Amino acid sequence: MLSQLISSSKRMLDVAARPFQSGTSPAPVVTTQGTLTVSHCDKSFLIGDQLTPILRDVSLTVEAGQFLCVVGGSGCGKSTLLRVIAGLETAERGSVALGDQVVTKPGLDRGVVFQEHRLLPWLNVWQNIDFGLSQSVRSGRDRIIADHIRLVGLEGFEMLHPGQLSGGMAQRAGLARALVNHPRVLLLDEPFGALDALTRWQMQTELLRIWEAERATMILVTHDIDEAIYLADQIIVLGGRPGNVRQRFQVELPRPRDRGASGFAELRREIWDAIFLKDDGDTSSFERERLLAELVAESHAT
Ligand SMILES: Nc1ncnc2c1ncn2[C@@H]1O[C@H](COP(=O)(O)OP(=O)(O)OP(=O)(O)O)[C@@H](O)[C@H]1O
Ligand SMILES: [Mg+2]
Repeated sequence: MLSQLISSSKRMLDVAARPFQSGTSPAPVVTTQGTLTVSHCDKSFLIGDQLTPILRDVSLTVEAGQFLCVVGGSGCGKSTLLRVIAGLETAERGSVALGDQVVTKPGLDRGVVFQEHRLLPWLNVWQNIDFGLSQSVRSGRDRIIADHIRLVGLEGFEMLHPGQLSGGMAQRAGLARALVNHPRVLLLDEPFGALDALTRWQMQTELLRIWEAERATMILVTHDIDEAIYLADQIIVLGGRPGNVRQRFQVELPRPRDRGASGFAELRREIWDAIFLKDDGDTSSFERERLLAELVAESHAT
């Protein structure tokens, strides 16, 4: 039964956060070493002449070494949340902390992988990874680069340029570049979104292998519910405008996960419901059934 496989599904998880007090600068959040904490974050953007709220009161906690997936509809602020965690954007309220360090800017402790690989086209695979490796590493650079090329399975392709790589190979190179400084947290924004279904499945398995080898904390944004269930220890459904956390799920299905298992299907349905639970009323059950049937047929076809 699902209850045996998913503990406390639909239960709000503890958020190691202090209550946010409006108008005060965020107090440093003291957490367990390595835990990533997002506490009551608000983020707005100026769109036209309107300051538009994008994220409201978003909190989450990821323990060191955990795998978190964020799912939600287009435009609900998933990438913005990831950019706030990366330090590429600043929340106007709330705080992000890694261990007892408050995040204020990008840092080598957080690696980022985007949907498009963002490799430099004039550099080959080896040079791209070398470019990503911190300049403070003075000795052993070649060994570190070679180790990461091996980690992502690109031995023999070191001299190829991005234009000569398949989509999956380019994402592997992007992963190696993001991992080469041994970040404590790897942030992945739809990293496999542009790949065909078979390569995507292969990359999901590879990512789990890399996660197990590196033991980095993973935060992955995806539209793909099955991908989230296959990968995550914890899934957060972001929704609404401004986006906030609609629901949290703990996934305790044994790995490697069987996409055809009944527990997997039940969780898929629960997450589907959480995403499509509209602010102005639920999606009609007929429509939900139809979309769910399509999703299942699609996942079985691949
Ligand atoms: N730099 C920016 N300036 C202004 N508006 C922005 C900026 N970045 C994002 N937005 C707006 O914030 C909202 C959320 O964008 P975001 O990219 O975070 O959504 P998302 O959930 O990642 O969507 P998708 O699933 O389509 O990638 C959108 O309305 C977008 O137009
Ligand atoms: Mg996005």
